[in-house]
Amino acid sequence: MSEKAQLIIGGKTYEFPLVTGSEHEVAIDINDLLEKTGAITLDHGFKNTGSTKSAITFLDGDKGILRYRGYSIEELAEKSTFLEVSYLLIFGELPNKAELFKFTDEIKKHTLVHEDIKKILDGFPSTAHPMGVMASLFCSQTAFYPESLDPNRSAEGVRLSIVRSLAKMPTFAAWAYKNAVGHPVNYPDNSLDYCGRFLKMMFALPAEDYHVDPVIADALDKLLILHADHEQNCSTSTVRMVGSSKASIYSSISAGINALWGPLHGGANQEVIIMLESIRKDGGDVDKWINKAKDKNDPFRLMGFGHRVYKNFDPRAKIIKKAADDVLGKLGINDPVLEIAQRLEEVALKDSYFVERKLYPNVDFYSGIIYRALGIPVELFTVMFAMGRLPGWIAQWKEMRENKEPIGRPRQVYTGATPRPYVAIDKR
Ligand code: CMC
Repeated sequence: MSEKAQLIIGGKTYEFPLVTGSEHEVAIDINDLLEKTGAITLDHGFKNTGSTKSAITFLDGDKGILRYRGYSIEELAEKSTFLEVSYLLIFGELPNKAELFKFTDEIKKHTLVHEDIKKILDGFPSTAHPMGVMASLFCSQTAFYPESLDPNRSAEGVRLSIVRSLAKMPTFAAWAYKNAVGHPVNYPDNSLDYCGRFLKMMFALPAEDYHVDPVIADALDKLLILHADHEQNCSTSTVRMVGSSKASIYSSISAGINALWGPLHGGANQEVIIMLESIRKDGGDVDKWINKAKDKNDPFRLMGFGHRVYKNFDPRAKIIKKAADDVLGKLGINDPVLEIAQRLEEVALKDSYFVERKLYPNVDFYSGIIYRALGIPVELFTVMFAMGRLPGWIAQWKEMRENKEPIGRPRQVYTGATPRPYVAIDKR
């Protein structure tokens, strides 16, 4: 392949260097495009635009490959733990035993949140969606740790913010749930591991013993690993964009939580269960709903289907589908929507509309079914996604900062009015 790309504008040829990634992906480096040619690129939804060089996550949408720092998602989901994967994503290498113990201990030391957080929580009505509550509580860390606002913080200071973020996220998530159901909050029990601690804060009731079910804790840990990073998606790009203005790590991640909330992104897992329930209540006629999804005059989309990058299959969906079978089997749960989901998938995968557009089940299609089996309420599904994505957001924020990336500031093609005179109206 030629080492330069040529662009002809108005009969004049301009050359741009090519950049090749470690997995042989090729990009045209247009850093000096405007300066050289006077033109910019236009790419709605950034479908063809690389915003950065990154060494964290590799995915190949055609082959259905996802790797964190070179390790396959299949292997990590089977053999690793969420905190080990978090360390890998954030610091670049798998921890040795001593490093993992130190990291786990540091996190345990910071699981408590400031008591005044309860006052903020009390300000939210119980109707508040837990994602909005969690984004607000997360951002409030800037008030409790104002030193995090210093854009020139030392590496130790940054590490402390990273540890605090990972330590407090499950507390915020569980408290956002407690607010929604109107129950008193539980404090973190540091004798438990990351997922066990979260489950106890979620489900323990006053004056009742709560025992963590290892099947549930293990399934949750696996789900968090599967969600831990996904390169430059909507929420991660948001975290990097906000962070590029040198905003604090807490406000950058809070922005990521808000971006994830939308139904086309992380919010899809909640929408999938709502959709499957509607289909069940409607009599379970899968063909009718497939036809609705294909009808361009109907706004309905098959939630949990399709992906911007995966055009063959989503490797996370494969693992989750199997995990859903395992978890429901182990817990002895027979969820009627699982059967509807399987039938929907079967019909869609044979239908030319979905085949031609390369629409396959994504990570969110089966994750909601597992969350439901684990007892997680539907409004908390996207919160679970956010808990899983946290180390990815942190790693991407840290990489952006260490690479000294410039402030994110896209251009536009202006299509509004051309100059026109202001005509005053009589304002008296
Ligand atoms: N149901 C029906 N048609 C669909 C669907 C769907 N779920 N997804 C895409 N299409 C059609 C779309 O109408 C378009 O058709 P046409 O070419 O005739 O106009 C074509 O497929 C391409 O769709 P697009 O919206 O241009 O593709 P995109 O890359 O911009 O959007 C997506 C990707 C994930 C937003 C989209 O597939 C979608 O809305 N899926 C449902 C929501 C969902 O499950 N989101 C979770 C994504 S995975 C979790 C995460 O990382 O966020």
